[in-house]
Amino acid sequence: MAGLNRQQERMGPASEQHKEVTKLQELVYELKIEQVMRQDVITVSPDDSIRDLKEVMRLNRISGTPVLRDGQLIGIVSIEDLIKALETGDIDGRVGDRMTTDIQTIYADETIMQAVNKFARFGFGRLPVVDRQGKLVGILTQTDVARGLLRQLEIDYHEEEIYHYRASHIFQDIESDQTGLILRYRVESKDFTRCGEAASKLKRALERLGAPPSVIRRIAVASYEAETNLVIHTDRGGEVIAEIQPRCIRIIAVDRGPGIPDVEKALQPGYSTAPDWIRELGFGAGMGLNNIQTCADKMQLDSKVGVGTRLEIVIHM
Ligand SMILES: Nc1ncnc2c1ncn2[C@@H]1O[C@H](COP(=O)(O)OP(=O)(O)O)[C@@H](O)[C@H]1O
Ligand SMILES: [Mg+2]
Repeated sequence: MAGLNRQQERMGPASEQHKEVTKLQELVYELKIEQVMRQDVITVSPDDSIRDLKEVMRLNRISGTPVLRDGQLIGIVSIEDLIKALETGDIDGRVGDRMTTDIQTIYADETIMQAVNKFARFGFGRLPVVDRQGKLVGILTQTDVARGLLRQLEIDYHEEEIYHYRASHIFQDIESDQTGLILRYRVESKDFTRCGEAASKLKRALERLGAPPSVIRRIAVASYEAETNLVIHTDRGGEVIAEIQPRCIRIIAVDRGPGIPDVEKALQPGYSTAPDWIRELGFGAGMGLNNIQTCADKMQLDSKVGVGTRLEIVIHM
């Protein structure tokens, strides 16, 4: 590609830069809402009184609850709504008149990353969790997220400990043969239900091959962000290609448009052209390319408007 907006990123051996992605960062991308949400949701009806609501909150020690009519989620009522009602002496009033109807929900199969973005964007204390049919299946607070992450951390650390005993020798074999392995994943534009599939397949492949956990972690985060960009920002999707070589792994994400007008700007933390409806899905925080940079020993982003974008990163082993 000639006449490109070219941005050459920091280069140099991994040892100099001490690249490290924490287990926690990796988990944020990997854990699903359904793994950390609470399933035993306490709900109220719009016809319940404020007095009933007060009792429900007190007995269950909760500070907010979804409001259901005939099994359908129609609102959410929080302790603030309760206090306001009590202040105006409306203890016999209806929950339906005090609830918030403009509710943000999150899908059970979305990631913690999306929940974190939503909590930050909307400032809510809790998010009702629904399945893809819109049925309420759980509730998620920021505490649930923290607790879920900690629990998973503990499990994963144990698994990493036994990694050393189980690891296959394929990586040593590649070294002796001087061959490489290429894995390709097609990524569809705007298919949010499958967003992250390529990254998790690649991750699983690397685990089976016996790649070191610290390397897998960086690749998981970088490839997830690269894949997300193909889903969010491209017209026709693209491909994530992983080249596994003796001492390094190269990840390439390519697409055929629309391209990036100002690559320098795109690399700035927090810069995003994602429209509101995509941000409401919990994407578009503008940190993707920065996260990739943190994971990579070498990163290069080439783009030409009307032609396409090519992101290449290298991670040493
Ligand atoms: N493959 C791509 N095609 C077109 N634009 C892209 C692509 N990847 C990234 N961008 C642009 O770079 C910006 C920053 O990307 P990123 O840091 O991942 O943040 P986010 O995806 O949250 O917007 C995007 O908002 C978009 O404008
Ligand atoms: Mg992104």
